Amino acid sequence: MVISGAAGTGKSRACLEKLHYYAQRYSGARLLIVRKTRESLNESALVTMERDVFLPGASMMAGAKRETRSVYAYPNGSEIIIAGLKQSGRDNKAKVMSTDYDLIFAQEATELTLEDWEKLTTRLRNFKLPFQQILGDCNPETPTHWLYARAHTPRMSFYQSKHEDNPKLHDGEQWTAAGEAYLATLDELTGLRRQRFLLGQWAQATGMVYEAWSDKENVTEDADYVKDGGVVLWGVDDGYAGQFDRDIGTYTAGSHPRVFLLAQMRSDGALHIFDEDYAVKKLPEEHIERVFTKPYPEPEFSVVDKSAAELRGRLNARGVYTRRGAWDVEASIGILHAMVGPDLNGVRRLKIHPRCEHLLKEFTSYRRDETTGKPLKEFDHGLDALRYLAWAVRYERD
Ligand SMILES: Nc1ncnc2c1ncn2[C@@H]1O[C@H](COP(=O)(O)OP(=O)(O)OP(=O)(O)O)[C@@H](O)[C@H]1O
Ligand SMILES: [Mg+2]
Repeated sequence: MVISGAAGTGKSRACLEKLHYYAQRYSGARLLIVRKTRESLNESALVTMERDVFLPGASMMAGAKRETRSVYAYPNGSEIIIAGLKQSGRDNKAKVMSTDYDLIFAQEATELTLEDWEKLTTRLRNFKLPFQQILGDCNPETPTHWLYARAHTPRMSFYQSKHEDNPKLHDGEQWTAAGEAYLATLDELTGLRRQRFLLGQWAQATGMVYEAWSDKENVTEDADYVKDGGVVLWGVDDGYAGQFDRDIGTYTAGSHPRVFLLAQMRSDGALHIFDEDYAVKKLPEEHIERVFTKPYPEPEFSVVDKSAAELRGRLNARGVYTRRGAWDVEASIGILHAMVGPDLNGVRRLKIHPRCEHLLKEFTSYRRDETTGKPLKEFDHGLDALRYLAWAVRYERD
């Protein structure tokens, strides 16, 4: 059987408590804690075992230090063997498989291959416990993983753990102080890591930078400008060269349109993008005037990419206060992404009006390079302007 779940939901502790219980209850049992490498057990399962499961000073901890320990020996003759399929960089599989066990716990079972898992099951023949079992725990991975596929067959029982299952985080009625602090940390995660470690979902990597984006949830007529609904802000990304491609209805991949995004900061903390203005081969002063003809109040301030000195000067001359855009790309992607996706209450802070056609196309086109993991510098113009805005509303000054 396998327990899968978000980070810190208590999976490993539950498995270790089970091993400890059966080692005490039945004499002469042989149990195994196994992970891909022996070294990775030191700071994970063994810490939890020695700090949280055993009573202080328990005889099983006598002797070797944690790093060199290979067994917890119980007074009743039971043993919990500690092993990695690799140890000190060397293949240790033959040694692990040379012994028979009653109960095997594979920590982070997704690290193992299907072959490893199946071979381990053939070692379940010590028969000192009334049942023989292999159990594993893991964080979610990609849904095409062998473990997930197997979990949907009758051969494996599959349980999903939630943060509410861990009494350290939730007391049955509400979150504990530790629970609130821990969830706040996980809430900062974005994209795939957020889906897997906060929400516990077996999510597929798509290559999209803003993976949490949803055409259904983030796009709404409600994002339109509302009189007295909150201050207007502009997000601006400078550019000049490029061309509009009529076939795809937007700018070609190599284009650098200048973008103005018109936003309204609502009192509930939502950021609404109600209009956009993209242009190529247009002088900054002409472009600025075009945006001023739109029927909205002037912005409280604008956020402009830091390299666009001329554009900033033009905006200042027109009476628009400018703040510098984010200097850290990944950090500001993270901040914007957290607004794109649902927060712990399921609320998405970023809403975009359907008239922002180019910006909406960028959300699904902006991708990361599959090998380097870095965002590709195309279809990122409106998204850069939006990133500056997200950064500015998060950090009050530049
Ligand atoms: N039933 C419980 N009672 C008290 N404390 C618990 C319980 N379950 C888990 N904990 C504590 O919560 C912390 C996290 O638990 P654990 O390491 O088992 O989570 P996990 O789901 O394996 O996390 P990860 O995804 O990081 O591997 C540990 O300090 C553990 O002792
Ligand atoms: Mg764990």
